Amino acid sequence: MIVLGIESSCDETAAAVLSGESGVLSNIVYSQESTHARFGGIVPEVASREHLAVISTVVRRALAEADVERSSLDAVAATRGPGLVGSLLVGWSFARAFALGRGLPLIGVNHLEGHLFAPFVTIETPPPFPFVALIVSGGHTSLYLARDFGDYVLLGRTRDDAAGEAFDKVAKMMGLGYPGGRAIDALAAEGDPRAVAFPRGMKGRGRLDFSFSGLKTAVKLYLERSGGSVVPADVAASFQEAVVDVLVSKAFDAVEARSVGALVVTGGVAANSGLRRRMEEEARARGIRLYCPPPALCTDNAAMIGWVGLRRLEAGRLPGLSGGVEARLLL
Ligand code: KG4
Ligand code: ZN
Repeated sequence: MIVLGIESSCDETAAAVLSGESGVLSNIVYSQESTHARFGGIVPEVASREHLAVISTVVRRALAEADVERSSLDAVAATRGPGLVGSLLVGWSFARAFALGRGLPLIGVNHLEGHLFAPFVTIETPPPFPFVALIVSGGHTSLYLARDFGDYVLLGRTRDDAAGEAFDKVAKMMGLGYPGGRAIDALAAEGDPRAVAFPRGMKGRGRLDFSFSGLKTAVKLYLERSGGSVVPADVAASFQEAVVDVLVSKAFDAVEARSVGALVVTGGVAANSGLRRRMEEEARARGIRLYCPPPALCTDNAAMIGWVGLRRLEAGRLPGLSGGVEARLLL
């Protein structure tokens, strides 16, 4: 079985080709980062137009790099939601037309379901269900209990900002550009995580929800009050430590509460080196198996969408071509 995966929910135009036997044959990601950087954030209309300009080239490259003819494809899998509605429409409409033109089944994939399974794209044996998954990205910070394919229980979510959004906003305040997660990660490596005691939102209250807006405000106030005496690396390290503390403690609270033996940590923020290190230490100490995708599969990509499509194709769970994008679809 060979599947073409397409992802366009935010500001990455991505296409990948996956084979049931050989795994990922190609994985192309075109990032619009430089386009949006000058606006300090994503401009949805600009994102849709750029998706439109590059999507055929990205798909063509994915097929060429995989050395797969269109006639060899068995299905097309595309992100149906959640995401920016204009961006989703471009990828989904392209995928529909592509599938219709070749008489292929079209599989609509939930973007979060893609992230959830991203660690398994590159490994032979995924853990058995059930397991806990922390999806931590620019748009989401949520904990799920994955009971089976398509059977996910939401355990907790952010009440305000997503963790990645907090990284991006703090980076902007510090003049580190957009998106700022990677820049904070790099700067934090040179700073003291105990230099500033930033708040840990909703920590230790026995609940699995998150809150990052208070932390963001605390960093803003700290920067305003400290004036010229700020050590940027210390602020970055202390901010990152506050986010990591909360993510680690809630993820393992969920693992304990649900008595599972495996934890998935995925989404753009899962590329953070501080978070990965702390998750690994904690998992080792508790004897929990940790599954974190390689950094390139943490951020948005089409390999994770194709992977879910492939599993669904193998299971024979194929919907028809009807339906549009689902911008607020939740797991
Ligand atoms: O998963 P993703 O590509 O898009 C969404 O579905 O939201 O995640 C993007 C987010 C951005 O907020 C970005 O700043 C953050 O992931 N990010 C990081 C790192 N790399 C990307 N945050 C912290 N440390 C990183 N190394
Ligand atoms: Zn994402």
